[in-house]
Amino acid sequence: MLALKPNAIREILKSASDPGVISLSAGNPAPDAFPIAEIREISERILREMPVTALQYGVSEGYAPLRETLKTYLRQKHGIGTDDDELIIVSGAQQVMDIAAKTFLNEHDVLLCEAPSFVGALNTFRSYNADPVGVTVEPDGMNMDELEEKLNACPNAKLIYTIPNFQNPSGVTMSLEKRKRLYELALRHDCLIIEDNPYGDLRYYGEDVPAIKSFDTEGIVIYSGSFSKVISPGIRVGFMTANKAAMAKMIICKQGQDVHTTMWSQILANELMTKYDYEAHLARLRALYTEKAALCMSLLDEHVVPHGITYHKIDGGLFIWCDLPEGADMLAFCKALTERKVCVVPGNAFLTDSAQECRSFRINFSTPTDEQLTQGIIEIGKLAKASLW
Ligand SMILES: Cc1ncc(COP(=O)(O)O)c(C=O)c1O
Repeated sequence: MLALKPNAIREILKSASDPGVISLSAGNPAPDAFPIAEIREISERILREMPVTALQYGVSEGYAPLRETLKTYLRQKHGIGTDDDELIIVSGAQQVMDIAAKTFLNEHDVLLCEAPSFVGALNTFRSYNADPVGVTVEPDGMNMDELEEKLNACPNAKLIYTIPNFQNPSGVTMSLEKRKRLYELALRHDCLIIEDNPYGDLRYYGEDVPAIKSFDTEGIVIYSGSFSKVISPGIRVGFMTANKAAMAKMIICKQGQDVHTTMWSQILANELMTKYDYEAHLARLRALYTEKAALCMSLLDEHVVPHGITYHKIDGGLFIWCDLPEGADMLAFCKALTERKVCVVPGNAFLTDSAQECRSFRINFSTPTDEQLTQGIIEIGKLAKASLW
């Protein structure tokens, strides 16, 4: 932990908690995305019909009916899971990174990931003194030649961490060709893959791309899913599927961390998936976010792009990655934005080496209201006009 230090970016993010500031920096679901009526109904039913199951200790692997529901769901919907795999419930996808790092990484083992990548995962890997090495993200995912070069250069590479759908923070989705190449490279270099997919159900345009786990014949992929973005992050329920032998060790690890995931939350997730129209719920979320994503992109086109900032169009997820023009000082820009009461996340927060030059920042469109989003993006445009030309 001595190596983990707070940094300048935190100062910018701190301003997001000021009620007068428009925060485009979070990654939270929209407040009206939660299925509140259903959750109220299920909660009442849980306490009436199965209070002891909900209140008693459970097993570390998770609530058996939810595990079965998820196994069937993943197999039928995504072709994920074989007889050699096991699925367990975790307390949010964040726990998958921690369990996998604790189980499979020794100090100074190398872990390859997209650069930029999800800072929560990077910090977990760092807390085990593993060395994250970033690979450039292109519009169709990691640069595979660079990944191969880095694998060749790092004989102690153990894991490849990827967020293949609507990546946090870049919004990029990895093409099928690259998923296959990544799998072959991992096999050849004796690496495990963590496929982190919390946003996969939030596709607004285009067709789903098969999961890497769906062609994992050798049992090297640890697949991670979460209910955080599709039910609620507060319930802390996620899941992971991996080869049985690997999972046996990871279960021991989970036991030491929190014994098991909250029973009430697991039952709730299972009831929502089996006794309600879960697909209709997902469709409602997609409709809500398709509108917000479209609003965000049209506001950027109108107010920001004319002043020299570019952005990557997205097909799903909750984030948009923006690039300042060459020569611009991104941190100074983000700080000046907080003075205008708008908070975005400076891009270097997501890099394996935060000292590396970075001209990007991340915007989230799911949490702010449409009015806040509009006001926030207009302010970004005004600052760009005033400072970049
Ligand atoms: C890519 C990615 N993985 C994992 C997580 C953690 O999610 P959970 O709430 O399931 O722990 C997040 C949360 O934002 C994320 O963006």
